Amino acid sequence: MSIISDDEILTEDKVSTKKNPVVKPEVEDGDKSFEINIRPKSFDSYIGQSALKSTLKITIEAAKKREKTLDHLLFYGPPGLGKTTLAGVIANEMGVPIKITSAPALERPRDIIGILMSLEEGQILFIDEIHRLNKVAEEILYPAMEDFYLDMTTGKSQTVKTLRVPLPKFTLIGATTKAGELSGPLRDRFGIIHRLEFYTNEELAQVIKRTADILDIKIDSKGAAAIARRSRGTPRIANRLIKRVSDYAIVKYDGKINETVANESLDILKIDEFGLDTTDRNLLKLIIEKYDGGPVGIETIAAAIGEDSRTIEDVCEPFLLQCGLLQRTPRGRKVSPQTYRHLGYKTQSSSQQSLF
Ligand code: ADE
Repeated sequence: MSIISDDEILTEDKVSTKKNPVVKPEVEDGDKSFEINIRPKSFDSYIGQSALKSTLKITIEAAKKREKTLDHLLFYGPPGLGKTTLAGVIANEMGVPIKITSAPALERPRDIIGILMSLEEGQILFIDEIHRLNKVAEEILYPAMEDFYLDMTTGKSQTVKTLRVPLPKFTLIGATTKAGELSGPLRDRFGIIHRLEFYTNEELAQVIKRTADILDIKIDSKGAAAIARRSRGTPRIANRLIKRVSDYAIVKYDGKINETVANESLDILKIDEFGLDTTDRNLLKLIIEKYDGGPVGIETIAAAIGEDSRTIEDVCEPFLLQCGLLQRTPRGRKVSPQTYRHLGYKTQSSSQQSLF
């Protein structure tokens, strides 16, 4: 059975960027045990997503007062913003155990049936990348979510019988980076649907300070703010950068992180003031220099910079779109005047001449 235990984060079947992946938000092998150690366990220690936290607190309190299980919840938003972490916090606040898996691990009917049948009353089942669930698994999930039973068939052709197997009442928490790819019937079965937002620099600085405390890393406020500014609104990236900067501080200085140490170290990693890495900059420069600012199709961009188009869409684009450096149009991707300025091009018309 493909159950991933409570204290594991899945890495399988995730998109991965090969080059300079330090500012890419998808889970990497090195993040696994690290994230488990620093993961907040309660709403009090979970920083950011304040609107979402407020509504969830009420939902949880009401469910507890009614002595009912929580409604099924769907979280969507870019990777690295803490969907799995939030599911863990909810389980902890509800006082119930959680089982964590991902849609690609539920390939065969017996995978999803096995998990559903192993659940305890009130338990939370977390399915990451739920938009990737196959049709058969989805159909098994519908009656399980709606009325807490499984339809099992036994026998063959004329002797086939359908057995209705009751399940314990459970809460499904689904997470996806692509809400639009979820089928309508599956989406409709979630009582509560929430979007996770990119973090502000102030929130990220708090996440960085909290992590530094746990890891016994000395960092001042300006050092935390400097790392936060280059973390693309994403706690997973912030937490990864603090380790890299801390390594640099130990090797080159006295181990303490201040603004100078943070900036120097991130410059060496080629992460710019917006948190863009070489791949992001190459992508934007390509659109400017070869396609006069766009629009240009995603497949053309992918082929030209040697990345796969899904990696670009899932990993690079959400932040570039959010900070206005890239725009999506029906005819392809284009850059904005801000992109020209950020990359040091004088004007749109003199874009053939990069200042770098
Ligand atoms: N580490 C990762 N995400 C976090 C969050 N939202 N709050 C506190 N620590 C975190």
